[in-house]
Parts: sequence; structure tokens; C-alpha cells
Amino acid sequence: MRIHLITIFPEFFTSPLGCGVMRIAQEKKLTEVVTVNLRDFATDTYRTVDDYPFGGFPGMILKPEPIFRAVESVKQDNSYVILLSPQGRTLNQDIVNELSQKEHIVMICGRYKGVDERVREHLINDEISIGDYVLSGGEAASLALIEAITRLLPGVVGDKESVASDSFISGLLDAPYYTRPQDFRGYKVPEVLVSGNHQKVKEWRDEQAMKLTKEKRPDLIKKLKD
Ligand code: ADE
Repeated sequence: MRIHLITIFPEFFTSPLGCGVMRIAQEKKLTEVVTVNLRDFATDTYRTVDDYPFGGFPGMILKPEPIFRAVESVKQDNSYVILLSPQGRTLNQDIVNELSQKEHIVMICGRYKGVDERVREHLINDEISIGDYVLSGGEAASLALIEAITRLLPGVVGDKESVASDSFISGLLDAPYYTRPQDFRGYKVPEVLVSGNHQKVKEWRDEQAMKLTKEKRPDLIKKLKD
């Protein structure tokens, strides 16, 4: 998968893209993530990318021309253009699964008060929010999205079963895990997990996943039933 990130802060991505699954995926050539500096597509010598909104409202808006030019510089027939913004559809695992099938994603990271509405009307295929709160821009949101997508790509996470048992993949939260020592300060690992009885362990984990989800995320149970 190829991903182009359109941003006024390309340096924002240097360290995160160089760590963990995002680094591994790029090293294995399973992903190619390229940052595009929006200012390179400004039309004036000051490299201006923002301007006041018509109508006299407070705050600055990202201008349409640099965004259109930046997207058009990387767009191909198979490209899927996403604007990261608090107005988008709220990201969940189903959406991540859907996006992990795309061949080329162009992510536009909004900034300031937002983007000129014509970007929404005429340029993008999708608009994604990572939750009902406001960030100063789409950069952190795009990283969350890239990481969630990357770990689903075949060959990135070595252990397929590990991904398959993740929270949300089954529609439920994942069951609790314990590791050594079996007795830590008198806090013991549940007996069933060290019993060696695989059937019993599976039943325990299924029960725990259901119990945890009912307690912490009853909305997920409702969604499963719908
Ligand atoms: N930009 C600002 N806030 C955001 C959010 N919650 N999700 C995605 N992009 C954003």
C-alpha cells in the first residue's frame, strides 16, 4: 500500500514512521509512506497556505489551491483521498478493515479552523475523525489511522493469530492476559491458565471477553446483536 500525507508539518512524522510496525512495514516494502509539504504547492512567494474565512469569522482556513495542487501531484486512478477532520465518520475497526484494502491512500491533514469547503465538495472520497474531540490538526489522527491499517496488512505482524484475537476484530474486547511470574507479590494468575487444558482455557477466555465487553463496552454487544 502507498500512502501520501499532505501536511504543513512533514517533520511531525519522522520519528513515529521510524518505529514499530510502521517502520517494519516500510522496510519490508509492504507500505510506502511519503510526506508532501503543503507549502510546496502554495502559489505565492510567502508560501501561504491559509487565509481568513469569508464572512468575517475568527480563525484561519486552509486555502483550496495548495491542497488541490498537492493532491493532484500524487493522485492516480486507484487513489482514495481522505480528509482527517473532526467532522468525518468516526474511525472504528470496520472502517480500518475497509481502508486496509485500498492500494493508494492520500491523507490530507487539516489545520487551523479547517479547510475550504470546496476540498470537501470536490476533492475527497472520504472524511475520517478519530474521535469526538478536537486536535490542532489531522497529523496525529493520520498517524493513528496509518498504524491501525498497517498492522492489518498481510506480512506486517508475523503472528496472524495475534491480530485475529485483537479487541474489536471479533466484535468484542480481548480477554485479559498474564505473563510470568505466576505469583507476583501474592497476586496470582488465574488457575485455569496454567492448567494446560486448552479447551478450558478457551472457554475461560471467551467468557472473560464477553464479561469485559458487557462491563466496559455494552454498545459493542448491542452492535453484535443488530
Ligand atoms: N483534526 C482535528 N481533530 C480531529 C479529529 N478528532 N480527528 C481527525 N482529524 C482531526
